[in-house]
This record gives sequence, C-alpha cells and structure tokens, in this order.
Amino acid sequence: MGFPTEIVEEGEVRVLVPKLKAFVKSPSEYAPSKAPVFYNPVMELNRDIAVLALQAYQRTVNREISVCEPLAGCGVRGTRFAVEVDGVKKVVMNDINEKAFKLASYNAEMNKLDKRVLVKNEDANFLLSSYGAPRKRFDAIDIDPFGSPTPYIDSAVRALRSGGLLALTATDMAPLCGVYPKACIRKYGGKPLRTEYCHEIAVRLLAGCLATTAAKHDMGVDILFSHSTDHYIRLYAKIEHGAKKADRTLQNMGYILHCFKCFHRETVKGLLLSEHHGKCGECGSKLDVAGPLWLGKIFDKHFCGLMEKEAEGKKLRFKRRIWKILALTREESEAPVAYYVIDKICDTLALSTPPIKKVMEALREKGFQAFPTHFNPRGIRSNASAETIRKIVSTFYKDKI
Ligand SMILES: C[S@@+](CC[C@H](N)C(=O)[O-])C[C@H]1O[C@@H](n2cnc3c(N)ncnc32)[C@H](O)[C@@H]1O
Ligand SMILES: [Zn+2]
Repeated sequence: MGFPTEIVEEGEVRVLVPKLKAFVKSPSEYAPSKAPVFYNPVMELNRDIAVLALQAYQRTVNREISVCEPLAGCGVRGTRFAVEVDGVKKVVMNDINEKAFKLASYNAEMNKLDKRVLVKNEDANFLLSSYGAPRKRFDAIDIDPFGSPTPYIDSAVRALRSGGLLALTATDMAPLCGVYPKACIRKYGGKPLRTEYCHEIAVRLLAGCLATTAAKHDMGVDILFSHSTDHYIRLYAKIEHGAKKADRTLQNMGYILHCFKCFHRETVKGLLLSEHHGKCGECGSKLDVAGPLWLGKIFDKHFCGLMEKEAEGKKLRFKRRIWKILALTREESEAPVAYYVIDKICDTLALSTPPIKKVMEALREKGFQAFPTHFNPRGIRSNASAETIRKIVSTFYKDKI
C-alpha cells in the first residue's frame, strides 16, 4: 500500500487497515484523520449496529438485497455487510481517495468477495447519481462521512428503490447541538437548541432534513431506528415513493418550544410557527424554539426487537453495550418527545440528585409515564410537566429542608 498497515479483526472479517500508531506523534492527536486512508476503530459499535439493522431489514423484505457504501474508507463496513449479512447479493463500495479505493479493493479480495463486491473510485454524489435509474437502484445505502451527511441525502434517496433502507451518520455535533446554530440551519434547515436533550434534537433535525429532502422527490420516510453514541448520531429510515406518503411524512414536522427558566417544553406540529407560542405556559418566560424538525417516532419498537434478535447469534465485540442501547430504545420508542435530565433540574433547585429509578417510580405512582432513555443515563421521558418533575424531585428532600 506504500504506508504502514496492519490486519485487524472486526465482527467476522479480517481487514487490512492503516497502522494508526505510525501516524501520530502524540497520544492526543486524532489518529484516523492523520492516516492516508480513514479507519476509526472507535466506530466498530456503529458498524456492528449497521450490520444488525441491515440484517433486520433484509429479513423484513425477505429477498436478496443490494447495498451501497459511497464513502467507504478502508472498506471495513461494506466488507462486513457482504460477509455477515445473509441475503446480500451485491455491495458497491466507493471512496474518492485513491488509496482508500486500493485498500478497500484489497480487503474485498482478501475476504474472497470479488464476485459480490464492486469497489469504485468516484465522487459519492456522482456514483449515487449513476444508480438513480429505476432498475439500477439499491435496496440499502449507508452514508458514513466526516461531519454532515446532508450533501449526499439528495442523491442517496434517488438511488434507493421504493421501500429501501437509508442509514446516515452525522458527526458534526457542534452545529447539531446548538454550538454553531447558523451552520445547523445551513446544513439541516432547522434551528438547534443547547438544551440538556440536544442530542435528541440533533436526531430530530437530521430526520427532519431527510424528510423534507425526500418530500421534494415525492418520497415519504419512516424512521426505523436511531442512536446517539460517543461523538456521533445515526439514523435508519425506510424511504417510500409516493406524493401522498411524502405529504403524510411532512405531518410529522414541527417545533420544540423550550423554557430555559423552568424546563417546560412543548411541541407544535406544522412547518410554520405562529407568534402566540412565544410565552411559557408554566412560568410566563420567553420560549426558545428548535426546528423545524421531526416530531414523529425516532425508533420503531418492532424494528428494535428484530435487531435484538439478530444480535443474539452474532459475534460482536460490543454486544453488551448494544443490548443496552437496543433495550432502552425499544422502551423509549413510544415515549414523549424531549426527555428531562434530573441532574439539571436538581442543580437549579440546589438539591443533590435522587436515584433516577426512584424518580421514575414516584412518577409512575402518580399515574405519569416514565421511561429511561439511551440518550442520557440521567434522563427520563415523561408526560409529566416540568413543574410536576420539580415537585417530585423536591419530595425526596422535604424532610431535610
Ligand atoms: C468517515 S470516512 C468513512 C468510514 C467508513 N464508512 C467506515 O465505516 O470505516 C469518510 C470517507 O469519505 C471519503 N470521502 C470524502 N468525500 C468524498 C466524496 N465526495 N466522495 C467519495 N468519498 C468521499 C473520505 O476519503 C473518507 O474515506
Ligand atoms: Zn417556564
């Protein structure tokens, strides 16, 4: 390859990757982007879940599928799809970097996949556009870029057949979580907000961007799964052709209104926000707005269950962590939008935080819903108002006050 490499094992494959240690001078440097070809061992869990989601999807369509990974790096993900997912008849891997193309080609060959894997060296949008015609389209496309996936969404939805699966990674968490709101509005067409549940807002902004992009092509979307892990978010959506489906999809768009003073939050459906939503219904303060974004479901209970089932028989290094994510997302799939973070509420009340399980029990005893969330181990999804949550948290300390 002309640069230091090593063989690593991931899932059921062995692949040649850049020897990351050879490209950094100090441990604080971010090795994956220093190497001539991108490879990030930390994203193994992302790829594990991608394998499970693709397999769950293949089981639901119950036929052979074609898959495209237009930003493939060293090709570990596409190689894993071809080896580990039953019913994959073809994988097209692609990277604009010639060295990545060579390494991905080597990995396909080393795993004896020459007949089922095609490796290309094109710009991702050019490649996807060349698969936009009706009989050429893919069943599944996995967009896993640096930063935002939005430059590829248009050509990806066009290169998917109706009913196809689109997976998107976004690593640009600073814009999505409201550190750089202008960049977020530019890329995703929605305003972010620096709240304690900004990672959920990030997923909803990405889903909203996908929904509005697909709608331009008369396509509807159904969000099957999403997760926020480490430094990125991930979204899995089924795309279906049809203007009516697109119209129905857009009914899931709306806004989250948030009060930074009392933690009250509410949602408003629709793409246009009227002025009378300006004041907090609980404390009268000015409400801040996030959106337009996706207010529909961001996890599908049945799909989470299918993925859990697939995980049972698979060799995955991060299985326990994945079980946990899947169990939590399945539980929170039907829970209200915008979770509370108990620590944040306790901070403003100058109280130490009670055990999260106890707060959930207390909420349920009072007849409210209470679910944990995979987004934050200290988060609770509930239909209780912020005031109720504050009162319940305070009752844990009423004897001491
Ligand atoms: C984050 S890496 C991909 C990692 C890979 N998906 C994995 O799971 O290991 C992003 C890749 O996109 C490639 N890339 C960037 N811009 C591109 C473009 N316009 N067309 C095709 N590939 C591109 C980069 O060379 C890089 O290898
Ligand atoms: Zn308020």
